[in-house]
Amino acid sequence: MAVRPILEYPHVALRQKAKKVRKIDKSILSLADDLIDTLYEAGGVGLAANQIGVLRRVIVIHIPDEVEPRIYVNPEITHREGERDVEEGCLSVPGYHAIVTRSIWVKAKGLDRQSKLIRLRAEDLLAQALEHEIDHLNGILYLDHLESHQDLIPNEHPAAEVAEVGA
Ligand code: NI
Repeated sequence: MAVRPILEYPHVALRQKAKKVRKIDKSILSLADDLIDTLYEAGGVGLAANQIGVLRRVIVIHIPDEVEPRIYVNPEITHREGERDVEEGCLSVPGYHAIVTRSIWVKAKGLDRQSKLIRLRAEDLLAQALEHEIDHLNGILYLDHLESHQDLIPNEHPAAEVAEVGA
């Protein structure tokens, strides 16, 4: 287990599509542990493997109030419903946040660390984090959902803002 450096925009790994995991072996479990350690150190909501330079489809999400971090391997959104505007930031784009249009709720599926298929219906921050992190696996950043990078809002208090909305 280790805290890994978080790659920042415009690093090329953030623009590449991560590869599907065929078998959840020791290396994938170790990757998931590193993602969790790195996420906790950074104080964000979620992290995708691309953000530490590993092009495999693994994400972790930690919702405040939840005891355990969530780990999803090969996660997919299977259904999206509605639209809402939410405040969003990204650990790979430090110093900024923006208002992004996301779904009101989503259905998603993925494998847990025991290779068990998990299906869930998510709303609020979990839905937003699933959309944000699965975007990362496809080389998409929240900036891409803005009409212009001029819509990026500088954080007045970077540490506090990133801790609140960083993913
Ligand atoms: Ni992010």
